[in-house]
Amino acid sequence: MGRKSSIMRRWMLNSIGFILALLVIFGTAFILSSRSYYYKSVEYSLSSRVDSVESVLNQMIASNPSALNFDSLARELVESFVDKEKLEMQVLGSNGAVIVSSTGFEPEKTVRSDYSKALLADDNRGTWSGKNQAGEHVMSMTLALRSSDGAVLGGIRYVTSMARVDRQIFMYFGLVVLVGVAVLFFMLMANSYLISSIVHPVAEINRAARQIALGDYDSRIVKKSDDEIGELCDTINYMAGEISDAERLKNDFISSVSHELRTPLTAIKGWAETMRQAGAWDVELTEKGLEVIAGEVERLSGIVEELLDFSRMQGGHLVMKFARSDVSAELGEAVVLFRDRASRESIELLYIEPENLPPVVCDHDRLKQVFINIIENAIKYSNPGGRIRIETADMGSHVQVVISDTGVGVAKDDLPNIKKKFYKANRSRPGSGIGLALADEIIRRHKGRLEIDSEEGIGTTVTITLPVAPNEDRSTVGF
Ligand SMILES: Nc1ncnc2c1ncn2[C@@H]1O[C@H](COP(=O)(O)OP(=O)(O)OP(=O)(O)O)[C@@H](O)[C@H]1O
Ligand SMILES: [Mg+2]
Repeated sequence: MGRKSSIMRRWMLNSIGFILALLVIFGTAFILSSRSYYYKSVEYSLSSRVDSVESVLNQMIASNPSALNFDSLARELVESFVDKEKLEMQVLGSNGAVIVSSTGFEPEKTVRSDYSKALLADDNRGTWSGKNQAGEHVMSMTLALRSSDGAVLGGIRYVTSMARVDRQIFMYFGLVVLVGVAVLFFMLMANSYLISSIVHPVAEINRAARQIALGDYDSRIVKKSDDEIGELCDTINYMAGEISDAERLKNDFISSVSHELRTPLTAIKGWAETMRQAGAWDVELTEKGLEVIAGEVERLSGIVEELLDFSRMQGGHLVMKFARSDVSAELGEAVVLFRDRASRESIELLYIEPENLPPVVCDHDRLKQVFINIIENAIKYSNPGGRIRIETADMGSHVQVVISDTGVGVAKDDLPNIKKKFYKANRSRPGSGIGLALADEIIRRHKGRLEIDSEEGIGTTVTITLPVAPNEDRSTVGF
């Protein structure tokens, strides 16, 4: 649950944090640029006022420079100012203090920086914005006036209230915040929908996976979408299926191995009992018993040896001792081992002995073990009256050993699996299901191929292909 909320939190923080940063940057840029636009336009309108009063004053100064009385001129200007409702007009003395104002109120005493700026500026103008004495936000522009000989006479100042502009900017601010909140809200909704569509199925998958981990291999996840999550469901379901199959194979393996071990043990125990009861003087019975016991012990050690080999193969420790050899020797020895059993079970064992087979590089014992496994299968999965044919072929670069039988065969569906460990297509006959897996691995280590062709009810053909030893090869190098 903690992890679930952490994905949600991380996702939200990442995506919403990014959007929030964008909103703040663009919102601030928008507010600042509109503020600058409005301030500039106020400044522009003050400037055009100043332009017109400047041209009037210049005419007056030029027409009568000597008789000009700045004080009376100022009063005259203020009195004739018509836009008193919109703007305030002030006349400043040479020290920057307000002499008279169009508002008619007592003029402010403070000297503002726009006058000093105007005195220094080339165009004789200076601007200031801030709070006036009444606490109102205003902007002012002052025009410094000089007589024709350059002496400072004073200044004319226009003051306008910024209340309307500030209101406008505040409105924009409100709008930006509103849009920002709306965008964030929609992002939040869209994201939480998207996250839920991922987090909930993931939680479901997690639950099913835990169930599988606890041993419920039949538990399956219901696939609800065809996207990556759906694919994950398929994979986990497939994995559960594979685990379930492996579990079943393992259980089958344990039961078949136990059965395999029990059969000779029962025989040994039975004969030992018989011999004890009969006593030592029955030589014939004792001899027969000992013979059976020896045979069964050999069978037992064969099973144990096969299991050990299999476990070595699983651990990658199957040691090979390669040498140049003729396949016919190994094959011949394996065939001899089954002659008696075949005739006992009324199965014809036909071995077509090869002449002049090219040598291969192989591990004599392991290769014999492979042939024994395959021939034993052929006998085990044949019925009385069946025929087994063993032949070899020189294919130039390869040597082929073909062992075919007319036995029960393997069903089409089982055929691709019979080389897998523990896999048994036919449960009616004994065996642990590791013979072919081991044989396949041994042939693979010889750089050869083990192929099985089979048809149910018709028979099986196992073809082993081994590379011919290179001419100069007299050692085991390379294998
Ligand atoms: N010649 C064959 N004819 C019919 N089925 C065969 C033949 N060879 C193998 N099979 C099928 O393939 C399965 C796997 O064979 P494999 O030799 O690995 O196991 P096994 O013979 O059952 O046990 P093990 O060889 O370990 O004693 C067998 O259980 C059998 O169903
Ligand atoms: Mg076998």
